[in-house]
Amino acid sequence: MTFQTYSLFVLSIIMIYSGRVENRLNLLQLQDDIDKLKADFNSSRSDVGDGGPIFTGRLSNWTERNEKRIILSQIVSMYLKILNNTDQSKAHVRNISEELYTLKQSLSDDSKKMEYLKNLTELQVNDLKIQRKAVNELFSVLQKLGDTTSSSKRKRRLVQRQCKC
Ligand SMILES: *[C@@H]1O[C@H](CO)[C@@H](O)[C@H](O)[C@H]1NC(C)=O
Ligand SMILES: *[C@@H]1O[C@H](CO)[C@@H](O)[C@H](O)[C@H]1NC(C)=O
Ligand SMILES: *[C@@H]1O[C@H](CO)[C@@H](O)[C@H](O)[C@H]1NC(C)=O
Ligand SMILES: *[C@@H]1O[C@H](CO)[C@@H](O)[C@H](O)[C@H]1NC(C)=O
Ligand SMILES: *[C@@H]1O[C@H](CO)[C@@H](O)[C@H](O)[C@H]1NC(C)=O
Repeated sequence: MTFQTYSLFVLSIIMIYSGRVENRLNLLQLQDDIDKLKADFNSSRSDVGDGGPIFTGRLSNWTERNEKRIILSQIVSMYLKILNNTDQSKAHVRNISEELYTLKQSLSDDSKKMEYLKNLTELQVNDLKIQRKAVNELFSVLQKLGDTTSSSKRKRRLVQRQCKC
């Protein structure tokens, strides 16, 4: 319950972040609804401040639009789970759920990227066939990293040293 109370505390700030990503969110209209939700969840209790924010502190480290969309796709899912157990007969709960659900749908490609990242961590690198395939792709992987304009200069230099590209 503390987790839920706490996450609701930062919902409005999350919505502002989302608003930058998805302009169609009507934040001003949602603000009233979020205030009502905060009251439902007792988000003004003193323990809400304990240990700092759950989401917002970390979010400032995610600066690029595409990476922000990936983390938002996960955060929005968490809010939907919280709201799923909340009384949907209340108009403000339905409003917020609908907005978040629409947002989640617009972030579905980003959810897939996250899923791919999870898959990647589970790749069986001890498997000899996987190793053959991986080594076969190594040069192209580094080449693609070199294409990323936003990647660090160090990475680019590394790639340029290894291939004449
Ligand atoms: C929320 O629902 C109320 C009542 O149905 C409506 O008047 C209001 O405009 C809705 N707000 C949003 C953001 O959809
Ligand atoms: C909010 O506080 C009231 C009164 O203490 C309590 O009945 C209710 O269950 C609380 N709601 C949540 C979601 O914690
Ligand atoms: C954010 O990034 C800074 C600098 O890269 C790092 O020192 C800090 O630990 C990061 N904070 C979080 C919450 O990830
Ligand atoms: C909401 O709850 C229902 C029933 O408990 C479940 O089937 C559904 O998958 C849940 N949805 C989300 C988004 O968690
Ligand atoms: C992740 O792995 C599962 C199981 O192998 C697969 O069905 C799914 O398509 C993969 N997802 C992505 C985005 O690669």
